[in-house]
Amino acid sequence: MDRNGIYFEGLVRPRRLRARRELSKPVSSLIPATSGADDFFSTLCELVPVALESYRLSALRRRVPACLRMLGVQSPQEACLRLAERPELAGRLLDVVLLGVTEFFRDPEVFEFLGRTVLVEWAEKPRPRRIWSAACSSGQELYSLAMCVHARGLLRETELVGSDCRAAAVEAARTGVYPVIELETVPRRWCAEYFEVDGSFAEIARVLRNRARWEISDLLCETLPGPWDMVLYRNMSIYLDAATADQVWRRVIAELAPGGILITGRADHPPEELPLRRLVSCVYQKEESHD
Ligand SMILES: C[S@@+](CC[C@H](N)C(=O)[O-])C[C@H]1O[C@@H](n2cnc3c(N)ncnc32)[C@H](O)[C@@H]1O
Repeated sequence: MDRNGIYFEGLVRPRRLRARRELSKPVSSLIPATSGADDFFSTLCELVPVALESYRLSALRRRVPACLRMLGVQSPQEACLRLAERPELAGRLLDVVLLGVTEFFRDPEVFEFLGRTVLVEWAEKPRPRRIWSAACSSGQELYSLAMCVHARGLLRETELVGSDCRAAAVEAARTGVYPVIELETVPRRWCAEYFEVDGSFAEIARVLRNRARWEISDLLCETLPGPWDMVLYRNMSIYLDAATADQVWRRVIAELAPGGILITGRADHPPEELPLRRLVSCVYQKEESHD
């Protein structure tokens, strides 16, 4: 327990969730580059609003089996034909191609660190604060932080915004209802405080839901205007090609307030020349002298 009575015990990542993520990895090897997968993505690129050509081809190819399953076809060639017949399916394919894997309190040590350092400082110097979860998927990331913010008594003065390019993910975040199994990664005593369980689903507490705002927004085209006191930009840049990833990092960091906090994923690497000081793994602070 930390000094404000916030518990992080029980934040052990369930083995089942970890296994599920690992299982999705090696499937790419089943789809050779020559099998028509690239033609399929060229077709899809024409039909979706997100510039899929800016993503790493290896990451896209890994999603081909799931796309074929969604379309009910056997091969990328058949998938192209199906899309020609029914182009309206392309929107749903975007949800399959852009992996939305997320969970409450992902990388729990990051939330633990924020709870006992950054948020303590914020509580000592109260003023309006702004937090942006960029590429928020279905909202678990922002709601996790909202719980920490609320537990520190900071919710009323904190603006919480999540954005993602997938409309379905943003709608799920706004609805704030999750399979109860997802509560496994939520600190135990916060499950009762911040969720109302009804059968196999759990609804996020109204106090948090009313505070969070959600936007459909494509990070390849726009960033939400800062200055932000904290930005969570985790586990998206790894899917982008190097040049695009670099460009998005720069735009995101430009919106961070001087002294603001950047939270990344474990595999994310912001460009070294950006004005960031690493505090601990996955947590950076923007230098004060930059805007
Ligand atoms: C793996 S999830 C990460 C979710 C969350 N940030 C986390 O770390 O748990 C990646 C998210 O990035 C989103 N995404 C991918 N490309 C995007 C883009 N161009 N603009 C906004 N969001 C994007 C996907 O829709 C997906 O929800």
